[in-house]
Amino acid sequence: MMHRTCFAAQAALWVGAIGALGCSSASTAEGDGNLGNSGSELLAGTDYEAEDGVCQGTVDSNHTGYSGRGFCNTNNAVGAYVEWTVSAAAAGPSSLAIRYANGTTTDRPATISVNGAVVANAQPFPGTGAWTTWELQTINANLVAGSNKIRVASNTANGTANLDKLTVDAPRDTQAPTTPQNLRATDVTSNTIALAWNASTDNVGVVAYDIYHDGNKISEAAGNATTKTLTGLQPKTEYRLTVFARDAAGNVSATSNSVPVTTSPTSDTEPPTAPGNLKASDVTNNSVKLAWTASTDNVGVTGYDVYSGGGVIVTNVQGTQATITGLAANTDYSFTVKAKDAGNNVSGASNAVSVRTGNVPPGGGVPKTITQLSSGWTIPWGLAWLPDGSAIITERESFNVYTLTPSGTKKQVGKVPNAVGTTGEGGLMGIAVDPNWSSNHHIYVMHSASEGNRIARMTFDGNALSDYKVLIQGIKKSKYHNGGRLKFGPDGYLYATAGDAQTQSLAQDKNSPNGKILRFKTDGTPAPGNPFGTLVYSYGHRNPQGLAWDSAGRLWESELGDGSQDELNLITAGANYGWPTCEGNCNVSGMTNPKKTWSTGEASPSGLAIVNDVAYMAALKGKRLWRIPLSGTSAGTPTAYYVNTYGRLRTVEKVPGQSLLWLSTTNSDFNGKEPAGSDKIFKITIE
Ligand code: GCU
Ligand code: CA
Repeated sequence: MMHRTCFAAQAALWVGAIGALGCSSASTAEGDGNLGNSGSELLAGTDYEAEDGVCQGTVDSNHTGYSGRGFCNTNNAVGAYVEWTVSAAAAGPSSLAIRYANGTTTDRPATISVNGAVVANAQPFPGTGAWTTWELQTINANLVAGSNKIRVASNTANGTANLDKLTVDAPRDTQAPTTPQNLRATDVTSNTIALAWNASTDNVGVVAYDIYHDGNKISEAAGNATTKTLTGLQPKTEYRLTVFARDAAGNVSATSNSVPVTTSPTSDTEPPTAPGNLKASDVTNNSVKLAWTASTDNVGVTGYDVYSGGGVIVTNVQGTQATITGLAANTDYSFTVKAKDAGNNVSGASNAVSVRTGNVPPGGGVPKTITQLSSGWTIPWGLAWLPDGSAIITERESFNVYTLTPSGTKKQVGKVPNAVGTTGEGGLMGIAVDPNWSSNHHIYVMHSASEGNRIARMTFDGNALSDYKVLIQGIKKSKYHNGGRLKFGPDGYLYATAGDAQTQSLAQDKNSPNGKILRFKTDGTPAPGNPFGTLVYSYGHRNPQGLAWDSAGRLWESELGDGSQDELNLITAGANYGWPTCEGNCNVSGMTNPKKTWSTGEASPSGLAIVNDVAYMAALKGKRLWRIPLSGTSAGTPTAYYVNTYGRLRTVEKVPGQSLLWLSTTNSDFNGKEPAGSDKIFKITIE
């Protein structure tokens, strides 16, 4: 039997377009041409007060903020309902917005039906914070011409939330604009790039174009513009630009073509003199203070870059001293400093200074030896363990799946069907092995497919993969923010990280799977105890890619930030991690701050592993492995290993039963620019 469920059907999102109970196998509602043009024939924006419908309970007015004469306080019983009689001029989809308040902290899920047919079987009505705070739950559903009975009936003995009114309106727009074409640079100076593209079209209207440099939005243009001049850029710097069209509902198009543009030099071509007399002092087990003498320049020095090992910039300062933090204990470092001017002209290097950091910091868990286990990989991504101690490993863009033994023997065992790339960071990502694999031979993968990102199950008999089944589909995909990690928790349920798909508002939309950590059973349905009764476990995430549990069973997560702050979060069910209102720390009530933050240059984290309550976080852009000792619910001082030594690091996993990590690279993609086959897998002993 097919265990095929669709997030849309469960969360009652897009139900109008995909049918009352079924789940279209082809796609979500995106691209359904019916959606845009039938709304005008309905009675748009009509309010139906609960006190005018059938209220199985009492009509109360003791909590302010309601509309009309009151609200329905349904009986505290399963099945207690409000039913409205709604008239529609013509058959077709429309949006049903239910205004409610729930002053408790327990979700009050309800079944929504139209003329007796269920259109949402567990619509969440989560707590609103107070009985006087009214919010909306909105779904799309098909109405028949004439009279319709719309019922909201409690799934639990708590009864429904207090229900104020139903507003029937034109259906929510779920159709994204078409792709902007022919992105091109029309003028380039030392600090500006003029862009032009061919306009997108949309069933409702394009409201903005988002302009990205790699995975980061750096500018935006109005919906009626087809040009934009980027300003304030660095001279002599490569920008890899793409454009996405967005509509008022927040739907984002597929990516335009990508245009690499390097800004020109300024008229000043003379670099500063090299800094001199570099000296180290105040060496601790994780930091060192550096000082040097100033450079001179024909125009002016704008700053100094401090390099570690000659290759990677570890900090950038304006003065002539810097404290370098996050160093590994008991490790040799060599630092140099170069000066820069406003034309991005870089001086020669200062003298090199060598330091050895102090002894093992508190917390233990120091990486001791690293050895190469396997080479010849092209973007290995997910890594999970089989009972015999081998790993099963995905490759993002070949969609191949391999086993790798502890002695380094690699074997291809299959390819995941229906996987597609996103000309960016999607593709075949996470993999998980069923805890009962020995009896059921099930493995699970997260991958991009035609309609979006999916969770699928396959059978792996020890030799080959077969028997592909979709469990969850239609999680919105995008060029860059796809999340992709898939792991079993200590509770036996599957956890997946879903990115915001470059549609930031989805991260705060509890009805969308995007920008979330999802938790579900092996048949793809929500795990018991999920905070909103849906697949959603936590929300407000941007591009989460790392999941690991500590010895007390607490879930930690690593997440790529936008332009500035990456995050290590301690995840609790139902919590809101802030994106896009907050990136990194902020002070917004109802939003949970990270336990640690990093600049995107020193981290851009993907995988996360925990050994003896020390967390290890693989950094892509930061090209290092972060070690973060955990203590209960707090995270200690991070220290970094292998800075710039093995390139961009993707996945780190603890070998079961051993103080051993496996670590993989992502160097052979458009970011790393290394040839196919240049990625590696290492093993690291932990002391
Ligand atoms: C309180 C509240 C009611 C609400 C009820 C409930 O009594 O005042 O408005 O309906 O709790 O939990 O259902
Ligand atoms: Ca649209």
